[in-house]
Amino acid sequence: MGYSRTTASLIPTSITARLIMVLVIFIGGVLTYKVVYFYNGPILSLSTFTPEQPIAFSHKLHAGDMKVPCQYCHTYARRSEMAGVPSLKTCDNCHANLTKQSPAITALKKNIETNTPIEWNRVYDLPDHVWFSHKRHIKKGFACQECHGPVETMEVVGKVNEHKMGFCLNCHQDNKAPTDCYTCHS
Ligand code: HEC
Ligand code: HEC
Ligand code: HEC
Ligand code: HEC
Ligand code: HEC
Repeated sequence: MGYSRTTASLIPTSITARLIMVLVIFIGGVLTYKVVYFYNGPILSLSTFTPEQPIAFSHKLHAGDMKVPCQYCHTYARRSEMAGVPSLKTCDNCHANLTKQSPAITALKKNIETNTPIEWNRVYDLPDHVWFSHKRHIKKGFACQECHGPVETMEVVGKVNEHKMGFCLNCHQDNKAPTDCYTCHS
């Protein structure tokens, strides 16, 4: 009976004290979750954010099956803050010579003919108070997949990382990159 007595002695006897204990455990849990969320995002990511796009562009087809290099389309990544999305000109480099028909291709051709940029919906978007630059990271040799996951396998690009502060800080610590607040917040 020694076992149950030890357990029992941890639980207060009065009802009020028991209620307070439950409350303290609950608040402690909520606060812990808040801190973890702040650094790392949801503990269980049951869904990823995958916005619908105006034209069904497939990374799996272009970057996976056809092995078009990421930076053929995202040309700015190594040169600037932005990786950017490709212009219609980039699509037309190939599509001007392709004869295949499909509703998505018809939509693309219409944008090209009327010179109307496609309004892609953003997948990744940091809050305005955070400074990030692709150039520094690409020059250092990090692969796109390090932060964006295996995009070349995705029909539709979805978020695989929340890009919460802990995500940035962990890698900065591992690589002896700066971790002062003003590195990322000015
Ligand atoms: C390097 C050449 C190349 C570039 C650049 C390129 N595509 Fe393609 N795309 C292809 C080829 C090849 C196919 C497959 C055509 C086929 O199946 O015969 C294709 C297929 C597609 C399809 C059809 C999918 C389907 O089956 O309905 C869409 C939509 C599409 N591309 C959109 C785009 C858009 C938007 C861009 C610019 C952001 C782009 N492509 C840039 C070569 C390219
Ligand atoms: C043929 C052109 C093309 C190639 C090659 C390509 N992309 Fe893209 N990428 C696009 C277009 C167009 C969009 C915007 C539509 C979308 O989100 O699917 C995009 C969107 C993205 C996004 C989401 C941007 C956002 O809104 O946050 C990421 C991340 C991305 N690409 C990474 C990659 C990586 C990594 C590779 C190489 C493995 C790659 N792309 C190869 C054309 C391309
Ligand atoms: C060290 C992490 C990291 C690496 C490596 C990285 N990205 Fe990003 N990427 C981000 C973050 C963070 C954002 C959101 C930026 C923002 O909201 O200001 C982003 C945004 C994007 C976008 C949306 C448009 C834009 O420019 O903001 C595209 C497209 C993209 N990345 C493609 C790529 C490609 C292609 C590569 C490889 C050549 C790459 N990324 C490598 C972290 C990374
Ligand atoms: C995969 C590892 C990795 C990830 C993830 C990463 N970084 Fe970095 N970052 C580095 C390294 C390494 C450097 C130093 C590059 C150099 O020495 O040129 C750096 C440099 C920087 C710099 C430039 C510092 C300076 O002194 O100018 C900024 C700003 C930055 N990162 C912001 C971010 C943000 C914001 C995120 C998260 C969205 C992030 N990084 C995620 C590895 C990473
Ligand atoms: C390597 C980059 C990096 C460094 C260094 C960094 N942060 Fe952050 N921080 C971020 C990112 C990315 C976010 C946005 C996370 C998100 O979307 O919730 C963020 C968010 C925050 C927020 C949340 C604001 C909000 O919108 O809720 C605060 C507060 C903050 N950081 C404070 C700090 C302090 C204090 C330091 C220094 C001890 C620091 N950060 C260092 C990348 C960084």
